[in-house]
Amino acid sequence: MSRSAPVVPAAALLTVALALTLTSCTGGGGEAGAARGSAGLRDPYFPRLGNGGYDASHYALTLDYDPEADASLRGTAVITARATRDLASFNLDLKGLDVEAVAVDGVTARWKRAGQELTVTPERGLDDGETFRTTVRYSGTPETLTDPDGSREGWLPTADGALALGEPAGSMAWFPGNHHPSDKAAYDLTVTVPEGLRAVSNGELTGESTRDGRTTFSWRTAEPMASYVATLAIGEFEIRRSTVGGRSTRLPVYVAVDPSQVEESRAVLGRIPEVVRWAEGNFGPYPFSSTGAIVDRPGDSAYALETQNRPVFPGAPDLSLLVHELAHQWYGDSVTPKSWRDMWLNEGFATYAEWLWEEDHGGDSAQEVFDALYEGDHFADAASNEAVWDFPPARPPSAARISDSPVYERGAMVLHKVREAVGDDAFFELIRGWAAAHRHGNADTADFTAYAEKFAEEAAPGADLTPVWDDWLYGDGKPPLA
Ligand code: TRP
Ligand code: ZN
Repeated sequence: MSRSAPVVPAAALLTVALALTLTSCTGGGGEAGAARGSAGLRDPYFPRLGNGGYDASHYALTLDYDPEADASLRGTAVITARATRDLASFNLDLKGLDVEAVAVDGVTARWKRAGQELTVTPERGLDDGETFRTTVRYSGTPETLTDPDGSREGWLPTADGALALGEPAGSMAWFPGNHHPSDKAAYDLTVTVPEGLRAVSNGELTGESTRDGRTTFSWRTAEPMASYVATLAIGEFEIRRSTVGGRSTRLPVYVAVDPSQVEESRAVLGRIPEVVRWAEGNFGPYPFSSTGAIVDRPGDSAYALETQNRPVFPGAPDLSLLVHELAHQWYGDSVTPKSWRDMWLNEGFATYAEWLWEEDHGGDSAQEVFDALYEGDHFADAASNEAVWDFPPARPPSAARISDSPVYERGAMVLHKVREAVGDDAFFELIRGWAAAHRHGNADTADFTAYAEKFAEEAAPGADLTPVWDDWLYGDGKPPLA
């Protein structure tokens, strides 16, 4: 789904610059040999996101939220991680909220905050390779964050509860963590809300119990998940469970729909099993142990998001949006970008999935969509048709533009050029192989081009992919048709 892209607010850039300066001046020295874990992973677009020096493997989040009482969240996060160097201290990302206590392996730890960085200094240093558990107790009213492109994410209060969305940097608004897509982990989430409301998240529901007017929901996400596709939807929801048949193990479908959206979304959501089966035919086995959708009210967010297992939609989705978000389960959620520069690996694939669905269901062929984009009559207005050529898919000029049409539509055009170069059979084998090779992992653009080249050598000898990369993926302006 494309979103409009307002200009980067200058104030936002200034804030980032200030935070950088402030944090780099603070902090005591580590012990000799042990160091401070870095306060960011040098993402080309979001340098402060994530933290160096450790690798998180599991988040246990216990949350309590009452939208009526004071819209305040109380939380305990237990983060299991492995040190990847000797550490005197390390950072977590957390924006807003009050930290009440921090412990490492059960021992109270010192901590301080600067911007989105929560620096933890355990009583004793951590050794390279050591697994450690950090507990953070926190509370407060979570913030809604504004992205560089002006869109809202993080914690979004809704009429009946709240919705947590995290692409690219929103998850730090509701739990502390290593909030960069390159550090994926398993999750256990336990959420207590007033009786009558539900809490819906990723993975599978493992428990639900009511006591003294409050209901606790437990969700488990066993497969690795990037924190930007973690979600939590609190509110009134109608639940519909079914299964995707026709595979060796039945895949559970869990759909949660705001009561006001049940009628309008019934027909499209009823097609989830059909879409998943179709996608498995093209992309290979579904990568997770459940699927579904969360439909909140229109306006609860300004966009849909491919939250793992069950994408979030603000209002009833149309079929191509459902196809797009489910395709992301393979491309984005299972094969996750190494950095935000590799966004086209998410959006180019998910957009191309929409074209493939149309092609297979009596609509325009992918070639026809490609041609319309090339001729400049795909979108309703000239400016949008022109904007496709603003920058190369693999090189957005700024963080504000990682969700613009060069990433989505031109990203899909790159895949269409690959298909043209290697032929249909090899192409589908290639995109399945790509999903299999990096299943539950991370990959970047160079990994993709290398994979495609190597694959083509075998499956499509003589195919020349160089112009696809040079002109379509990395090249400025509108490439020649060749
Ligand atoms: N990934 C979402 C989609 O395609 C759109 C989106 C939501 C997005 N938030 C974003 C893209 C932030 C880039 C950045 O369905
Ligand atoms: Zn998308």
